[in-house]
Amino acid sequence: MQRKIILVAGARPNFMKLAPVYTSLRDKDIECIIVHTGQHYDYEMSQIFFDELGIPEPDVNLGVGSGSHASQTAEIMVRFEEICSEIDPWMVVVFGDVNSTIACALVARKSGILVSHIEAGLRSGDMEMPEEINRILTDHISNFLFTTSRFANQNLLNEGLDEGKIFFVGNVMIDTLNNQLHSINNSPIVENLGLSTRNYDVLTLHRPSNVDDSISLEQIISNFSQSVFDNKIVFPAHPRTKIKIEKAGLMDSLHNSGIEIIPPQGYHDFLSLIQNSRSVWTDSGGIQEETSWLGIPCFTIRENTERPETIEVGTNILVSTSGEKSFEDYFKEYYQSKNNHTEIELWDGRASDRIAEIIFEIYGN
Ligand code: UD1
Repeated sequence: MQRKIILVAGARPNFMKLAPVYTSLRDKDIECIIVHTGQHYDYEMSQIFFDELGIPEPDVNLGVGSGSHASQTAEIMVRFEEICSEIDPWMVVVFGDVNSTIACALVARKSGILVSHIEAGLRSGDMEMPEEINRILTDHISNFLFTTSRFANQNLLNEGLDEGKIFFVGNVMIDTLNNQLHSINNSPIVENLGLSTRNYDVLTLHRPSNVDDSISLEQIISNFSQSVFDNKIVFPAHPRTKIKIEKAGLMDSLHNSGIEIIPPQGYHDFLSLIQNSRSVWTDSGGIQEETSWLGIPCFTIRENTERPETIEVGTNILVSTSGEKSFEDYFKEYYQSKNNHTEIELWDGRASDRIAEIIFEIYGN
């Protein structure tokens, strides 16, 4: 009987990581079952990525939807346990650091199923981030840890994890970016929004530390009224962020700062917006990586990053909201500093092939 692998995806940043791993495993004739937890469910937060990236419809959708951390995580666990006992997989592959990642890893490991964690070893050092808790717990219960950088390997070793289960393979999100460049280049979004290359900036915000408190949200928005931002700022807003802005009565301030709020974008349009922008302002994790690979200046509105290689490579700079420096100061600082953009080791579009090769070897044994 053929052994089955379940690939778990739940939230937007998972889908572009799953796509190339699914393809590489299928190329090795390994039977893959896609389980979508339903953590993200709006068309533009989920289905559009399946359509654009050619991922087959999920075999199972757990349909959990939104909730508090505890209820969402618990609901995923209960429903995923049933699926695991029905399907009886040999391995469960989880991605990144969202609630779906830890929920499914925990169920699988306790059911005696092998767990592979893709994007293991990232650490911000900030336990106030729900994702940091998810990462640490997932890494410590996984059987196989696939990492994107040598920093990540070192983090795992520092926590006493066994070197034999750590594999530095590169970045699967960059595999997708590399595979999709043609469609990204053909996206009409820049023209449709009346923009042109390098005459606008992009903003994204969704971290609770930035958007949950109306004072910090207002402070971030007001920084964009400074003269260096005489460009238009395009802001594809996460549904949660949009609600927070509306509740805080900040739509007018947004407008006064030259920020145009638009709905969440699909993969091709979003990456096209990034690729043609002058700079990107974000609190996302993945966007720090995508801008690094594309060579676009990224200003990360956070006190820390779990992706230090993007700072080292020269495209990313941390922007504190403590108020000591304005966003304009950071902008000028970036351009004054020597920008020696180099390539990041193994971010070469082949990470998922390496992962499939390793899993195939384990599979044969
Ligand atoms: C989750 C991840 C975060 C990731 C982000 C990317 C966790 C702990 N957090 O955060 O790491 O960077 O996804 O987007 O897993 N909502 C919708 N439509 C959707 C999905 C969500 O309107 O399709 C709204 C709901 O009001 C929901 C809220 O967004 O309550 C938050 O969604 P949730 O999945 O809990 O967390 P994110 O903030 O999206």
